[in-house]
Amino acid sequence: MTAVRTRGSLRWRLLLQLLLVAAILSVALYFTVRALAQQAAETTQDNILIASATAISEAVRVERNEILVDVPYSALTMLGSVAEERVFYRITADGLTVTGYNDLPAPTATPKTGAPFFETAVYKGDEVRVAALPRRLTVGDETVILTVLIAQTRLGLAAVSLQISIAAAAAGIGFFILAGALSWFATSNAMRPLNRLAQTVARRGPQDLSPVETSAPAELVPLLQSLNTFMGRLSVSRARTEDFIAEAAHHVRTPLATVRTQSEIAMRSVRKPENKQILREVIRASDESSRSAGQLLDHAMVALRSDNLEKEKLNMKKLTQDVIRSISPTADLKDIRIICTGADAVSMVEGDPILLQNALRNLLDNAVKYSPEDSRIKVAISQTQSTVRVDVLDEGRGLGEGDRTHLTKRFGRGENVRDIIGSGLGLTIVEEVMQAHGGTLKLVDNPESKGTCASITLPLV
Ligand SMILES: Nc1ncnc2c1ncn2[C@@H]1O[C@H](COP(=O)(O)OP(=O)(O)OP(=O)(O)O)[C@@H](O)[C@H]1O
Ligand SMILES: [Mg+2]
Repeated sequence: MTAVRTRGSLRWRLLLQLLLVAAILSVALYFTVRALAQQAAETTQDNILIASATAISEAVRVERNEILVDVPYSALTMLGSVAEERVFYRITADGLTVTGYNDLPAPTATPKTGAPFFETAVYKGDEVRVAALPRRLTVGDETVILTVLIAQTRLGLAAVSLQISIAAAAAGIGFFILAGALSWFATSNAMRPLNRLAQTVARRGPQDLSPVETSAPAELVPLLQSLNTFMGRLSVSRARTEDFIAEAAHHVRTPLATVRTQSEIAMRSVRKPENKQILREVIRASDESSRSAGQLLDHAMVALRSDNLEKEKLNMKKLTQDVIRSISPTADLKDIRIICTGADAVSMVEGDPILLQNALRNLLDNAVKYSPEDSRIKVAISQTQSTVRVDVLDEGRGLGEGDRTHLTKRFGRGENVRDIIGSGLGLTIVEEVMQAHGGTLKLVDNPESKGTCASITLPLV
């Protein structure tokens, strides 16, 4: 029914872009947190190393020109918080080992006196962090540079680093989930004006072609303006078509009626039978043209209104009785009695009164047209739980032999009705009205006597 194909979703597109940004930020957050925390852990280790080196350095004393060191126990215990962590130290005086591990690598750069110096090296197969604390020491008459080197393995730091990485990853994932939830909320919010506009347009009745007057975000204003311009054009074009149909009926029927009247007057004055026959044919042709023009324009009106149904609640009983009343003069001319039965129940349907009246009029018109004089037409209204049915039963010539499906097609007429004027559009109109209202049309032989039973069924409100 609709030519609009869905291609992607604005909301999902927006959401995906926001999630992509959130993912990039989450990864950046992970690396930043990890780098900062690792740096903090390294600084802490360096601080403890230097505190330990200071404690050792302060324990160095000179006695009888000899450098003596009693490495304080606390200086090493402050480093041994992690069980498998190993600690090494070396004290040098002008580069010569006084005590400690002789092969502990000294910093490659010569540290300034008093300023600590750090280096990461590999010692005894493990990565170690070495802190060097130099200090001037007077031994006898000489001044020597005493350097306390203290090293610690980095196994603990690796464990801390793993923990930090896990925590940073958790922070990154948490951030991503939070950003995702906020993005979902933000996209819903951003789409709200669009949904509101769609609802405003969808809520309008099919007849409502007035401009959409609502406040909308700047991005939607061009769309709204185009929509309003389009509706304006549509409204003008529909009004023109309706006027045209009404005027066309008048303009076609009036001259044809004149032709018919003039022919009838002429008929009275002509004597020759062949001239009378010619005039009879003129009258029939004008009747046929008038009927065809009327039915064609009715069909156009039905097609136009079916596209924009003006639905209202209708009482099917009342509607049927109105149509019976309007067709009674024609029926009276043939002494046909129209009996309406089962009209006690109030059967409410929802539909366009003009279209439904038109459909019923066509059924009754057929019944009257194809019935003999002094016969009876029964209109029976019946109701089920969800539908209402109107049967129009006549005692006429019936639907004839052969295929009946073509009778509801445009210009489809039965072989047995060639002598009666008709355009073959009445049942097409009925069927189109039924389709527009979710109803059905059925044509069968009259089960009660000879003749036809034409029924329409409509859903109840
Ligand atoms: N009550 C009926 N009795 C007998 N035949 C009928 C009846 N109703 C419909 N038909 C058959 O169905 C055909 C189509 O009916 P439809 O009303 O569409 O056209 P029409 O009556 O011929 O022309 P018009 O458009 O002027 O009504 C008729 O020509 C006729 O053959
Ligand atoms: Mg008809």
